[in-house]
Amino acid sequence: MPAIVLVGAQWGDEGKGKVTDLLGSSVDYCVRYQGGNNAGHTVVVDGESYAVHLLPSGVITPGCVPVIGNGVVVDPAVLLDEIAMLEARGVSTDRLLISANAHLIAPYHATIDKVTERFLGKNQIGTTGRGIGPTYADKVNRVGVRVQDLFDPGILRQKVEGALDQKNHLLLKVYNRRAITVNEIVDGFLRYADALRPKVADTSAVLNSALDDNKVVLLEGAQATMLDVDHGTYPFVTSSNPTAGGACIGSGVGPTRIDRVVGVLKAYTTRVGAGPFPTELHDADGQHLRKVGGEYGVTTGRPRRCGWFDAVIAKYSTRINGFTDYFLTKLDVLSGFERVPICVAYDVDGVRHDEMPMTQTDFHHARPIFEYLDGWWEDISGCRSFEDLPKAAQAYMKRLEELIGAPVAGVGVGPGRDEVIAIRELVPAA
Ligand code: IMP
Repeated sequence: MPAIVLVGAQWGDEGKGKVTDLLGSSVDYCVRYQGGNNAGHTVVVDGESYAVHLLPSGVITPGCVPVIGNGVVVDPAVLLDEIAMLEARGVSTDRLLISANAHLIAPYHATIDKVTERFLGKNQIGTTGRGIGPTYADKVNRVGVRVQDLFDPGILRQKVEGALDQKNHLLLKVYNRRAITVNEIVDGFLRYADALRPKVADTSAVLNSALDDNKVVLLEGAQATMLDVDHGTYPFVTSSNPTAGGACIGSGVGPTRIDRVVGVLKAYTTRVGAGPFPTELHDADGQHLRKVGGEYGVTTGRPRRCGWFDAVIAKYSTRINGFTDYFLTKLDVLSGFERVPICVAYDVDGVRHDEMPMTQTDFHHARPIFEYLDGWWEDISGCRSFEDLPKAAQAYMKRLEELIGAPVAGVGVGPGRDEVIAIRELVPAA
């Protein structure tokens, strides 16, 4: 049975949780493969809304095994709080597995994240301040602390000493902050060891043997393509690889085992934090999208920047991820516009670009070239088939499909789990 990868095709917050939820009981394992508690999935089940930041959204689905893969960065305090919150609401987290190789976010990572941003001044990335970038930096710099280190206090101490060595110089001398002691970090980490120990596993081995046993494994990306550290709008990106290739690295599942790569695409565009955004709206239409779409960050509560659909980005995303299918979310939010613009190309200093510009400079200068489609006024949340949609909404969806280069397998028409138009099965029949 297949491994399926699910990736956001824009700048995040496309509604990936809804797709995971829709796949529901057909998924046996739901795996986070990168990022940390900078993410935020909202899953609505039976009218109950659950916001999860670190756990895979499949944790809500009964019978599904949620897995935190090696590519994730784990803040143990946040993880245990999230587990406690779900348990208190009657959601079992007993099946959760955590990779022994996942890296730990320490309090000093969040401190460095925040002071670095402050020092960047007007060049700020607008990070979530959760310590994500500094934790990945330590991983690549080979001074990271991993989940498995919690179970060997001697090694843990050595690693924390190594990690703090340079950081304390930086904190004291450059950022004018107090030094952090090895003891406070080690003692803090060790407090979590017993609670986490039963959940820690060689998750790559577990997932590969699940695939051998014909189980369905969903590899769920957090953030999105345009926030990818290699393929996104660098440096205004997160510090990991949400794109499909990252699913292999961050889970220990090889590329030959992946059958479907599903892109999640919002019917318009949003972005949180700084960085270029060619179709951004600064007018009443942008405010309307934010209000009707509820465009406020699940993690930070920040208002999201809103704009029209950008087909250049979507087409680029299809290329980078090799999408086999798309799931289009929030089409209902577009009801009520006279005309609905789609960005089909960019004007960069007088030159038309049909593809993503090669350089950051050109992308910062990109101005959208729009095609205008007729809008629709009907409430489409009750539509359950493509034919139920108003003709103008059908035309909008068909035009997107032509531009983005992969078929639309499903459409979200409202926040509820049933408010979906299913066009093609995402999990192939056994
Ligand atoms: P970091 O991931 O906290 O380092 O933040 C880097 C950039 O990614 C910032 O612009 C954040 O706003 C953005 N970002 C991180 N996580 C998410 C997410 O889940 N959705 C949307 N944007 C995100």
